[in-house]
Amino acid sequence: MYTEKVMDHFSNPRNVGEIENPDGVGEVGNASCGDIMKIFLKVENNIIQDVKFKTFGCGAAIATSSMVTELAIGKTLEEALELTNAAVAEALDGLPPAKMHCSNLAADALHEAIKNYKESGQ
Ligand code: FES
Repeated sequence: MYTEKVMDHFSNPRNVGEIENPDGVGEVGNASCGDIMKIFLKVENNIIQDVKFKTFGCGAAIATSSMVTELAIGKTLEEALELTNAAVAEALDGLPPAKMHCSNLAADALHEAIKNYKESGQ
């Protein structure tokens, strides 16, 4: 039911944890299941240097969190804002239709963290 990439990112998620003194933090919840994702950012010269996440959620939510961190690191803030939830699911070679809603968290949490960074006026 899940692609190899989903299983890989679920069993061995990248960039799990927190960043101390982050430049931005984004948290979103999935209204349909109650799962929560939190993303921490380190930004320097408009480039995302580091991203970490904590996700209280299903396997698909963990895999999409892990993938979004990999996609975001090294991108400019503008490029990262263009990352969509669909692009994250696509990078995982897709999610089962019943789990597509789980991908709603990933890019949204990243975008929230960027918004938080911008609003903090750094
Ligand atoms: Fe909640 Fe997947 S079931 S994010």
